[in-house]
Amino acid sequence: MTSKLVQFAASLPKAELHLHLEGSLEPEQLFAFARRNKVEIPFKSVDEIRTAYDFSNLQDFLDIYYQGMGVLQTEEDFFDLTMAYLKRSRADNVRHVEVFFDPQGHTERGLPFSVAINGVTRALAEGERELGVTSKLIMCFLRHLSEEEAFTTLQQAEPHFEKIAGVGLDSSEVGHPPSKFENVFKAAREHGLALVAHAGEEGPPDYVYEALDLLKIDRLDHGNRSLEDAALVARLVKEQMTLTVCPLSNLKLCVVGDMRAHPLKKMLDLGLRATVNSDDPSYFGGYMMDNFRAVIEALDLDQDDIRMLAKNSFLGSLLSEAEQAEHLAAIDDA
Ligand code: HPA
Ligand code: ZN
Repeated sequence: MTSKLVQFAASLPKAELHLHLEGSLEPEQLFAFARRNKVEIPFKSVDEIRTAYDFSNLQDFLDIYYQGMGVLQTEEDFFDLTMAYLKRSRADNVRHVEVFFDPQGHTERGLPFSVAINGVTRALAEGERELGVTSKLIMCFLRHLSEEEAFTTLQQAEPHFEKIAGVGLDSSEVGHPPSKFENVFKAAREHGLALVAHAGEEGPPDYVYEALDLLKIDRLDHGNRSLEDAALVARLVKEQMTLTVCPLSNLKLCVVGDMRAHPLKKMLDLGLRATVNSDDPSYFGGYMMDNFRAVIEALDLDQDDIRMLAKNSFLGSLLSEAEQAEHLAAIDDA
């Protein structure tokens, strides 16, 4: 029965709304890029890298994530990274992606702003042409850095605005509340950029309120801890706020102790517009369908739940209503 439902999920067109391109860097690629760029890495084998991917919280992961992205040096690296992600996702019938990248993770180590964004956008264009996967690019600010540094990044991005659909907020959550970035989000909004933010992954419900009220987000990344506050849940339902939920990430970063305790099914039952996403697939154990498989099996999802999750992924996207409608019709017909 479960495998039938997994097949059903695989057959549906889906959108991915929460994916850090740097988090799709597979250990094999990490080695290949390190070799071709002559970058030293503290690992001797792919197995050794995989063994290091054992995290007890978000910061444990971030330390390795920032170290890993150090092998990305050239436009070609970002092109190859992005193309590999698109191909892998297309195999899971992901038809639209809204991907994050962390420009400050690269400018901080001396790469010009243009290197990452040019490589990524060249791959996104080729992905649309060759694979039929449409895309939007979201530039994230690292919240452990200052708002002033975020402003510098926004300024560096200006010549590239036609390639950027929105801004996001990621990295170490606790101690770096959304309020720290109120002004730079306002500036991004005035430039017409869409706004998303990680909140309520490890941070309290207050951070979700701040993301809504101060940053004025269009979409909430993670949002798990919203469930601790019934008034907040009611508001998210009323506003039809999309939550980009990342089941395998939540398990790997100990946001949930066991997949059977994952709140995804509860979110759907409460009327929240929850979606399934892979976050940092190479670090957390899998891509879109690995995440679907995990929740279908652990949470006993039925066909209606699965259909709803696929629909929510397009409803929560930045696609136009007409573009969404085509995908929604295909899901209804399945
Ligand atoms: N949370 C916060 N920051 C991140 C993540 C995440 O899951 N992945 C990459 N940066
Ligand atoms: Zn994330």
